[in-house]
Amino acid sequence: MANHISIRHKINNFNKKIRVSSDKSISIRSVLLASQAVGISKISNLLESEDVLNSLKTIKKLGINYTKHKNVYSIQGFGLNGFNIKKKTVLNAGNSGTLARLILGLLVRSKFKVKLVGDKSLSKRDFSRVIKPLKLFGVNIKSKKNMLPLKITGTDFLRPINYKENIGSAQVKTCIIFSALNTPGITEIISKHSRNHTELMLKFLNYPIKIIKKSGYEKISIKGLNQFKCFNYDVPGDISSASFFIVLTLLSADSQMIIEKVNVNKSRIGIIVILNKMGANIKLKNKKVYNGEEIADIHIKSKKNFHAINCPSKLNSSAIDEFLIIFLVAAKAKGVSKFKNLEEMNKKESKRLDLGIKFLRLIGIKVERFGNNINIHGRPNLKLSKSFEMKNFLKDHRIFFLSCITALTLGGNWKINDKNSCNTSFPEFLKILKKIGAKIN
Ligand code: S3P
Repeated sequence: MANHISIRHKINNFNKKIRVSSDKSISIRSVLLASQAVGISKISNLLESEDVLNSLKTIKKLGINYTKHKNVYSIQGFGLNGFNIKKKTVLNAGNSGTLARLILGLLVRSKFKVKLVGDKSLSKRDFSRVIKPLKLFGVNIKSKKNMLPLKITGTDFLRPINYKENIGSAQVKTCIIFSALNTPGITEIISKHSRNHTELMLKFLNYPIKIIKKSGYEKISIKGLNQFKCFNYDVPGDISSASFFIVLTLLSADSQMIIEKVNVNKSRIGIIVILNKMGANIKLKNKKVYNGEEIADIHIKSKKNFHAINCPSKLNSSAIDEFLIIFLVAAKAKGVSKFKNLEEMNKKESKRLDLGIKFLRLIGIKVERFGNNINIHGRPNLKLSKSFEMKNFLKDHRIFFLSCITALTLGGNWKINDKNSCNTSFPEFLKILKKIGAKIN
């Protein structure tokens, strides 16, 4: 089957209620934590994307079995350090930085050397951010230039650490928390704000974890070696997947949409805060708290005029995966939008800052770049009619989604390669687009 799609028509106006795929961060965490619980955990609405399926394959290779019945995955854990690790184990994290960084935290007591590999994109990403704290715990790690493949051997003599996490990376924070679960004593992390799903899940499991909020930072203390029991979890929708439908609705004429049951954790909704500051009127209704996580329906209406934003960089971590699609709104806004300190964007599945700028220039937008700060000169009347071909973006799923939403809202004649990249995070993406009327071949 062809691995490209063509879009030649803008989407007609629509009024729809949809659900998007389940949250990727929560899905991966629930699988990994279930592998450390005692008993059979039951997880419903687990995201069935490649990153999550690779998480399931990974725990299976480590001796943890699971079954699926209807909508529910049952995962049989044997407690902390309950993996059955064989000699010469090789784990393949595929495209997933989250799986790769998090699983390392659960291998800190492995008697045997475990090799961790990934796909072409993941093999270009930097692992020094997790290698450094893991070595402080006493773990032995070998890699070339801090990249995959890497080899990890654990120890029975782990020591708790005090660590300052300055990047604002939830992957690093969680790798440390997972290592701390297996380490005697109290591990302390002073962590720059980042998504807090791991902390909320551990609290829901009654794990002894303490969090003190400071401005911009949190002090997290984890008491190691406390066993937790199996659990049930129902995974909500992913705001990162919803973000493409939010912008599709905003930029389409006379349209509206409700996206039901999305996780709207404060550490994830930077996109809503930013777009509302730019003139959108996105509303969260029917809010509920589920196991510490906030869930809501997102109500969106299309909008004719947006104004530029000087985006406060304190919002960066809560919108880190959404900037590409936010840039598309900035491209249609009146005035010059400014975004600062975006270096982390270049450390994702592709160099997203570089590619985002290239993309905006391709569609005729002036972008000035000063290091990791950019100015986007909006063109409220921008319409496209030329032909465009998207290729060579390291199969980055979010660049694929961005290209589709641009074609459907601004027009032009698009050929977009690497359709299969949808499977990384949002396998239903094209199906939902077609359901709401998009013409995609
Ligand atoms: C994630 C954290 C973020 C995000 C990634 C998922 C997670 O990365 O970009 O898509 O689930 O912890 P960083 O923690 O490296 O910022």
